[in-house]
Amino acid sequence: MEGMIPKVRKAVFPAAGLGTRFLPATKAQPKEMLPLVDKPLIQYGVEEALHSGIQNIFIVTGRGKTAIEDHFDVSFELEQALEAKNKKDLLAIVRGVSDMINVAYVRQKEALGLGHAVLRASELVGPEPFAVVLSDDVIDAEVPCLRQLLDIYEFFGAPVLALMEVEGDAISAYGVVDAEAVPHNGGDNRLFRIRNLVEKPKPGEAPSKLAIIGRYVLTPEIFHSLDSIGPGSGGEIQLTDGLKHLLRNRPIYGYRFEGRRYDAGDKLGFLKATVEFALNRYDLGAEFREYLKQLSL
Ligand code: G1P
Repeated sequence: MEGMIPKVRKAVFPAAGLGTRFLPATKAQPKEMLPLVDKPLIQYGVEEALHSGIQNIFIVTGRGKTAIEDHFDVSFELEQALEAKNKKDLLAIVRGVSDMINVAYVRQKEALGLGHAVLRASELVGPEPFAVVLSDDVIDAEVPCLRQLLDIYEFFGAPVLALMEVEGDAISAYGVVDAEAVPHNGGDNRLFRIRNLVEKPKPGEAPSKLAIIGRYVLTPEIFHSLDSIGPGSGGEIQLTDGLKHLLRNRPIYGYRFEGRRYDAGDKLGFLKATVEFALNRYDLGAEFREYLKQLSL
């Protein structure tokens, strides 16, 4: 049975949002290009996909997103200048980014929601399973979060969503699932079978504490579901609603991943990620720690 489950080779990165939570920084620059220390958010997601075994990246862009395309392209002038100055380390970093992936872009002409963005990639993805990565969710994990989901997918051949417990009213900012635990790995209580999904439930109406985080492994039937549903929360075509439609005919699993997630699309989350990532850097951590210690907080 396992041999018949097709491999996931492609990942879709929706990146056409307006980034309103980060204005004015995102007025002329996509939020996906905001740097955590020295790497743009989207590169963290792309590296996670690569480290999970996926090399084909499809980025769904909108207006004003050319910086993303330039970032993953060859920068001829920059490379020449670095070569002339014999800056080998920097040259390797710059080349590494453009050599990293096979990338293709598709345009989402109007920001009509996450489900709509994913649907835009249907021609590129074709009839095969694929991953979706939301680059505002930056996840620091020993085994990349997407790899954890792929391991579950490779067993069941069914869609798998990343889940995380969220306490209190903060759950209303997420897609939330109702789910039953499935025995797995000696009862680690991480694997769930989804019973229902609600996008951005009102406080007190969430079916559980289990929020969807921006990593998905999907099967191509989701495109039909996304095509069939109307606008939902916020008047947008929601991926969560597409999954709810798909659930009528297919099992969907959730996996409470191991690792630490930062909401880098939010100012406070972004600051937390910046501090933690800087502290963990071999070239900056020690000095930065000393600096933080001497702040009288
Ligand atoms: C999106 C999804 C939501 C999910 C969240 C994770 O919401 O619609 O279901 O919980 O990402 O970050 P957004 O954050 O784009 O409003």
